[in-house]
Amino acid sequence: MGFMEDRFKDFILPGSEEEKLLHQIDFSRLPVHIAIIMDGNGRWAEKRNLPRIEGHKAGSKAVREAVEACARLGIKYLTLYAFSKENWRRPASEVAMLWELLYDYLRKEDKELIKNKIRLKVIGDREGVPPKVRGELERVEELTRDFDSMVVLLALNYGGRTEIVEAVKKIIKESKLKPEEIDEAVFSRYLYTAGIPDPDLLIRTSGEMRVSNFLLWQIAYAEIWITPDFWPDFTRRHLLQALVDYQKRQRRFGAIPQSSL
Ligand code: FPP
Repeated sequence: MGFMEDRFKDFILPGSEEEKLLHQIDFSRLPVHIAIIMDGNGRWAEKRNLPRIEGHKAGSKAVREAVEACARLGIKYLTLYAFSKENWRRPASEVAMLWELLYDYLRKEDKELIKNKIRLKVIGDREGVPPKVRGELERVEELTRDFDSMVVLLALNYGGRTEIVEAVKKIIKESKLKPEEIDEAVFSRYLYTAGIPDPDLLIRTSGEMRVSNFLLWQIAYAEIWITPDFWPDFTRRHLLQALVDYQKRQRRFGAIPQSSL
């Protein structure tokens, strides 16, 4: 790439570290689906002597940055772990504020999603989402349902084991499948992510080396990239670095490298 393409103007400064990273990316081998465990909002705030909710507020700004960066780079699917089933165990005030932030995000971000032809889809146990937030989610899902430049999947009230158990229940209740007719491809059609390719790249912030009940089935062959930085500090530079590192790895899916055959 000689001159920077239009879509990167105002987004990547000439001569910057980001531009150097951008030049290392092979756009014919981008991950189709990136999933992110956004961790460390609380610690980011504590380090600054701020209440935890300030960390979540800063975290929602980082969400905007990540969505924009993925859209510009041409990532087709981005899944964000925004609220886990386990998050209900936090103090009620923090839980309420998190839902409030999500509500605000949806109220404000719908125009950006429409402008950029981005589809929003929720994965998780919807029944348990507070009704006010659920109404907004469904409104934005409906508004964006026909867009396909990128899909943002928000994992809300999400648990990987619950998703698998729910899939089993659906197969038993709704399908007439015989055991011998069930294989991996059939099973995956009963997950929340039916029809969506598995993540190629799983990013986690704040240095934790855990999967935390996220997309357990779908990350079987995902490459994992972890940064020690907290989620509110996540920028386009992190994303570009993750892509560069991802492309240096050799994905084998359990086979041996082509060159050894
Ligand atoms: C982890 O930090 C983050 C969360 C539990 C929720 C993620 C929520 C946001 C980024 C804000 C709103 C989301 C959207 C989509 C607008 P933590 O609180 O677990 O941090 P800690 O481990 O340092 O305590």
